[in-house]
Amino acid sequence: MRRGLFWAVLAAALTSACAPQERPLTEEDMKAQFAWDLGPNTIEIYAYPADKKDDYALFRSRCSRCHTLARPINAPYASRENWTEYVKKMNKRSGNVLLAADEEKRIVDFLVFDAKQRKTKPEFQAEGKQRDELFERVKEARAAAAPNQK
Ligand code: HEC
Repeated sequence: MRRGLFWAVLAAALTSACAPQERPLTEEDMKAQFAWDLGPNTIEIYAYPADKKDDYALFRSRCSRCHTLARPINAPYASRENWTEYVKKMNKRSGNVLLAADEEKRIVDFLVFDAKQRKTKPEFQAEGKQRDELFERVKEARAAAAPNQK
């Protein structure tokens, strides 16, 4: 019996680890505005150079003020052009008080460097697909909860 229970729990854990799109939706999930909000909120930076670790700290403190950090962390943007555009846009949204010019550059540099490390990998693409599926479920659940608000 005990053994049976162990395997049942293990199977459930493995299923949820392999297929996050099948897990029950949480209150946090329901707040998502972008599929990217549904992904991890941190980056593993232990292997990054020291200056990039400092820039990561700056990124964390500034880019979490209005939305999840998961949003930029999981956004598929990788090029310098894209990140320059978005970081400038975000600074503008704050009335240009969020970032001084040198900070803007540090955050763009960090996001471009980080994208090269993580976002070119097939795992990132696969996880992105799972987040998209999860986001579809969030949208369906919202529509079911408030059928008149489309
Ligand atoms: C003053 C509030 C504010 C701050 C601070 C902020 N954002 Fe945003 N961000 C927003 C809003 C609002 C949206 C929703 C989409 C839009 O209006 O552009 C957004 C959306 C995004 C998106 C999705 C872009 C899209 O529209 O496709 C990314 C990526 C992003 N932010 C990155 C960042 C980064 C990186 C920083 C730090 C430099 C940051 N944000 C700081 C307000 C902010």
